[in-house]
Amino acid sequence: MTLLKLFDLTGKSALVTGASVGIGRGYAAALAQAGANVAVVDVDEKTGQKTAEQLKSYGIQSVFIRCDVTKKDDVNAMVAEVAASFGRLDIAVNNAGIGILGPDEDFSAEDWNKVIAVNLTGMYYCCQAEAKQFLKQNPVQGKIVNTASMSARIMNCNASYNGSKGGVVAMTQMLAAEWGQYNINVNCISPSYILSPMHASTPVEVRRRIRELTPLGYVERPEDLYGAVIFLASDASNYITGHDLLVDGGHTLNAWLTPLGRSVPPRVSPEEETVQLKNDLDALGLSYDADGINTDLHPEIANAFKAAFGLK
Ligand SMILES: NC(=O)c1ccc[n+]([C@@H]2O[C@H](COP(=O)([O-])OP(=O)(O)OC[C@H]3O[C@@H](n4cnc5c(N)ncnc54)[C@H](O)[C@@H]3O)[C@@H](O)[C@H]2O)c1
Repeated sequence: MTLLKLFDLTGKSALVTGASVGIGRGYAAALAQAGANVAVVDVDEKTGQKTAEQLKSYGIQSVFIRCDVTKKDDVNAMVAEVAASFGRLDIAVNNAGIGILGPDEDFSAEDWNKVIAVNLTGMYYCCQAEAKQFLKQNPVQGKIVNTASMSARIMNCNASYNGSKGGVVAMTQMLAAEWGQYNINVNCISPSYILSPMHASTPVEVRRRIRELTPLGYVERPEDLYGAVIFLASDASNYITGHDLLVDGGHTLNAWLTPLGRSVPPRVSPEEETVQLKNDLDALGLSYDADGINTDLHPEIANAFKAAFGLK
């Protein structure tokens, strides 16, 4: 196989959960550009349909499938529909996730259960259904890529979110150990703070502080994960399983001892950081200012950052 072929996904069949916007939409665009047919899986039907339509411009097939990953029957039906639409399943990217903020001493059982239901249990249902599909196919093999987070390594949100992401990493490793015998690779990707709709309300001053705390000097964007997802979905990673691929610009290096400031500009400017975020907000039909900020979408995340940085 030539080196270029290693990363080629032409004709492969892929699904991405939580793909209507944000990181999932970025993964879907990357897989489509590498040649895979992509099923956009989400609870948000209106935006998901638009995303699936846009993916067709890469010359691949794309379908939208409505699925709530917390419902096992939905998940089983979704995987069957992907296999029926594209003839088989080769690549499954389990990415749907939510966060609910709040201090742990007062966190309700209901909120705890909601976060765990999507981020951990829903992801488990997806992995199970996908592995069963891989086992039905000839040859038996497949690639599963789960979205974890740097929040499995640095403690920055609360026990439900950070605990769920730590769980994703451990679950990924266990399934990799179990399913290696079936030629199924199970890996995860851990992003840092990404300018997805989850961070649409995060103010400019907070972004500036994140840049300063990140050696590569810019705030991560969904497209910064393109290489990671193609790598883990393609033959290039055939001997890699149970790996948590951290993609964080060096943020978790906690580089407070190194001199602040930069000697050369970062590869990505503040304006370029927001291109994909603005596309996501357009797809959602939401307005935003010149910096791509919509203060109504996730004010709780903006407030938590402001409090952490001591900003008004
Ligand atoms: N944005 C970040 O800073 C960041 C950092 C690290 C990890 N992550 C993780 O990346 C993943 C994607 O995050 P994002 O920032 O793109 O989020 P987002 O909120 O912008 O998008 C999440 C998508 O998932 C969908 N979704 C939510 N619940 C669902 C369910 N039950 N079933 C199916 N789809 C559902 C939503 O409709 C939405 O389209 C999540 O797992 C998140 O925890 C995000």
